[in-house]
Amino acid sequence: MIRLPHVPEAEKWAKFMLRKYPQANEEIVLLSVWLHDIGHYPLPTEIDHAIRGEERAREFLEQEKYDSKKMEEVLHCIRAHRCRDVMPKTLEAKIIAFVDSASHMTDPMYFYMSKQDKKNNENFKAYAKMERDIRDLSAFPEVQNELIGLYDAWKNLIKEYEKIDLR
Ligand SMILES: [Fe+2]
Ligand SMILES: [Fe+2]
Repeated sequence: MIRLPHVPEAEKWAKFMLRKYPQANEEIVLLSVWLHDIGHYPLPTEIDHAIRGEERAREFLEQEKYDSKKMEEVLHCIRAHRCRDVMPKTLEAKIIAFVDSASHMTDPMYFYMSKQDKKNNENFKAYAKMERDIRDLSAFPEVQNELIGLYDAWKNLIKEYEKIDLR
């Protein structure tokens, strides 16, 4: 999985959301976006990267002697960013879950996933990913609405790509 462009793209989305929701805490949002996928590194494991990410971010922030109240807010953003077993409760955590999904709509991730699946002759996982991503934008319906066109465009593009017998 190609992840390198993801965090800079998510940071752009974080700044976009901070402009729209200036009441959100900028420091919490930016720190969380930078750290939210730290659980993927150094290598993928069986453990959910949101759980491992929370642990690794805690180690890092404690080592940096970061304010403990703010640290808990950042850790919640990281833990809840996948909207699975832990849902985002604060505005900042909702923004992080949003930007994580929104960034997939403006980087080549669905296409890379689909190229990989075509190569391995597997069912395309990008469709389910797109569904989860559009769902995870629902905390901000008006911005979600702005992204519907991109979501439809990706779905069509992947469908057309899937049809081609390229081996
Ligand atoms: Fe993630
Ligand atoms: Fe992410």
